This record gives sequence, C-alpha cells and structure tokens, in this order.
Amino acid sequence: MDKKIPLFYALKDYINKKRPAFHMPGHHRGKGIYKLLKDEWGENIFLYDITEVEGLDYLHKPEGVIKEAQELAAKAFGSDYTFFLINGSTVGNLVMLSSTLKSKDKVILQRNSHRSVIGGLAVFDLEPIYIQSEIHKYSGIPSGIKPEDYEDKLKNNSVKVSLITSPNYFGMCENIEEILKIGRKYDQTMLLDEAHGVHFPFNSKLPLTGIKIGYDMIVQSAHKTLPALTQTSFLHIKGNRVDMDKVFDALTYLESSSPSYLFMVSLDVVRYQMESEGEKIWNEIIDLSNYLREEVNKIDGFYCFGKEILNDEVYDLDLTKITINTKKIGLTGFEVEEILNKKYNIEIELSDSYNILIFLTPGITKEEIDKLIITLKDISIKYKKRPIEEEVIIPEIPKMAVTPKEAYINEKEIIELKDAKGRISGKVISAYPPGLPIVVPGEEISENILNYIYDLKEKKANLQGFIDVECNYIKVLK
Ligand SMILES: Cc1ncc(COP(=O)(O)O)c(C=O)c1O
Repeated sequence: MDKKIPLFYALKDYINKKRPAFHMPGHHRGKGIYKLLKDEWGENIFLYDITEVEGLDYLHKPEGVIKEAQELAAKAFGSDYTFFLINGSTVGNLVMLSSTLKSKDKVILQRNSHRSVIGGLAVFDLEPIYIQSEIHKYSGIPSGIKPEDYEDKLKNNSVKVSLITSPNYFGMCENIEEILKIGRKYDQTMLLDEAHGVHFPFNSKLPLTGIKIGYDMIVQSAHKTLPALTQTSFLHIKGNRVDMDKVFDALTYLESSSPSYLFMVSLDVVRYQMESEGEKIWNEIIDLSNYLREEVNKIDGFYCFGKEILNDEVYDLDLTKITINTKKIGLTGFEVEEILNKKYNIEIELSDSYNILIFLTPGITKEEIDKLIITLKDISIKYKKRPIEEEVIIPEIPKMAVTPKEAYINEKEIIELKDAKGRISGKVISAYPPGLPIVVPGEEISENILNYIYDLKEKKANLQGFIDVECNYIKVLK
C-alpha cells in the first residue's frame, strides 16, 4: 500500500517516529496551539501540518517521495508530467502564462477567462487578444467560443500561445478537440484552464479532458469537484513544447517556499481514490444528477437543462453540474438563493440573475437531494410570480488604450460614471448575467459602453467593479 499512496504513508511514518524537533512550523507539532483551536480541531491535524523536512522531499526540487507521488498522478491522469499545486489553479494559470510567453507577447484567450488570467496579463506584461463568447440564450450564460472565431484571430494576429478555458463554471464545454486542431495549424502552444474538469479523466460518461488529446499544459482544481482540500490543484504537461526549466522556475517564484503537506497529501490520496474508485463514484453522481434534473423539471417554474442543449450554443455538458433556471418562476437566481439560505437553511454554489448552480460532488446523498427537491417544490408554491422575459445582450469588446500592465501600475482616480466617456478603466467592470467583463483595465470607456452600463443599471442588473454600492463611481487611469 505504501507504494500506492507514497506521500500519505511517508508522512505517517515520519509522525510515528516522534523525533525531537527544533524547527518550523511555529506551533511545534500542535503543542503551542491555542487550546480553543486544538479542542475544536483535534490534535492530529497539527501533527500532519509540517513543511519540508529531511526525508520528505522538496516540492520545488522533487527527488524522493513527492516525485513518486507526482509520477503516480501523471500516470493516473494520462499526462507526461504532473505538478502538485498548493495555491490553486490561480497559480497554475500564472505559471502557464509566464513559462510560455515573454513580456510584450500576445496571447489569445476567451473574454470570460478567470481573473487569475487577467491578472497574469498585467503582472507579466502580456497583450490579450480576446475572443468573445457566445451566449446560451435561455440561461444567459456564456456558453463557448466558435472555433471559426478562434481561427479568425489566429489568421489576423502573430501569436504563439492560446489559453482556452473549458469547461465553464456551469459545466458547459468548448469543442476542445476542434480548437486544438486549429491551434496546431497555426503552430500554437495550447494551454487549457480545465479548473472545473478535474474529474473528467475518471469516468467515460464525463466530457473529454484536454490531457487526453494533447494540450501542452492543463491546469485543474482538485478542490473544486474532487474530495480534496481547498487550494489544491494539478498542473499537467504533455509533449515536449514546454520548457520544463521555465515551469520549475515559475513555480519557485510564484508558490510558497513552505508548501503545506496537508495539501500535498490530500492530492496524493485523492489521486489514489479516483484511480481506484473514480468510475463508480462518478457513475453514482451522474445517476443522482439525472434524477435531480428530472425531478426539478417536474416542478412548475423551474427548468434544469441537460444534454438537449447540445449543439444549441453548447458543445458538451458536464452532467454533474446542475443549473436551475429561475425565469419561469419569476424570481432571479439571487432571490432563490436568498430564500434557500434564509428560509430553508440550504447553501448552493452560486446564483446569477436567471439561474442557481448546484454542485454534486463525492459524498452527496440521495437524502440531501430529496430535501432540495421538496424545498424547490415548496418555493414554487409559495413564491411564484410572473415569468421573467429578458434576453441578454452583450456589448462589443472595447478598444485597448493602454496595456494591462500599464493600467495595473499607473495611478488611478475615482470619478463619477457620468464623466467616464473616453476615460481608461482601472478595474474590471462586469455584469451578471452574462458574467462577461464589459471593460477590463486598460480599455477605453466609449459612449456605447457607457450607454450599455446605464441600460444595465436601469434593469437593476448585478454590476461589479464599482467603488460604491449604488454603482455611480468607478476607478479610471489618471
Ligand atoms: C475557470 C477558472 N480558472 C481558474 C480558477 C482559479 O482556481 P483556484 O480557486 O483553484 O485558484 C477558477 C476559480 O473559480 C476558475 O473558475
């Protein structure tokens, strides 16, 4: 068994030796921890909370047990090399960008890329070429890019690296195979933010993973859908386009020099769990998700989409993500989330103006799902109003006036929205739905953009990126 979960057993052995220790962490194997915390959390967690010590290898230069654990992960996921990440896919995205691009390089990416990608542009001084997402009309969710739009960007720009995000938060997947084919035609290094798809390799009913078809670097958040600790992720490398030395350097610069063994052991164990039981675990979850979907669709006022939306603006769907549309019940997703929270004591993953999102992950039971179904039936009876009939319109991508880096480091000031025409945004301003940025730092706020924002304000959309709650003040470059 030791060889199958090497890091878990190496740590257990180390702790059982009970050697006198005069080193970090400062809690001295839990003995110095405040009683309140120890009483609540127990003692074991602190014994396991160590950082690199003799015999337990080094994350930034793995030659022993961490190397073994990462090699087993690579085999399980089907990559050529896998890194354990202890700062989430956020650091994974930063590493992918900084190890494949030089300062001032261009990179192709989706407009709705995660903020770690947008941050990476600013920190590493990269120039974005954005591809706008299609919108799934009924739910208002950005559903994916058209492969032909991607090819157009490649035809018209000199660029060497593309960063694709798939699936999105709601489990909608891009046609990653077609996108990869096009990217290779233009000699692209292909990066994939698969933060929400870490479970895909472990069940044949789940969508295709980019690891299988040969993206060069793939980042996945273990903690999002697998039973792993928060902050744990994997970075996978395939093929030989990536300079491994640069990847090691980037990880050394960007991650902690005192990595948590709690996180790394969690990754080692979850890899073993998925390898040995993943097919069964995800079969059960897919069955439960189909059951939940069917039952929700019997309730007046709620609609939960399944694979019938494929080819509609969506290429593939992760069935374990349950998006429940609330338009027909006449409540926003935000309102339904609040009712679930305050009146029924139920927590969900997120909500937007037209939807709530439910995650089904290992450990979920039919009893919990039945409770949710009964609750939604009750809400449908007690709270139903006139259906919402709105469609999401998205604006054009604004002109980039200065680079993301200039926008990040240069001075900014707060102004009233009414005076913003022609100014350069210092923040991401976005609205839900569809959750796409309207402007990002460095982009010009044109009259059209301003009118679009005023229109959203009138509709009482959920706007983000303002200084005040009334959404009257924004930050722009001086
Ligand atoms: C698409 C996407 N990429 C990356 C991240 C960052 O992941 P993490 O929370 O593991 O740092 C997120 C987080 O929500 C995400 O949605």
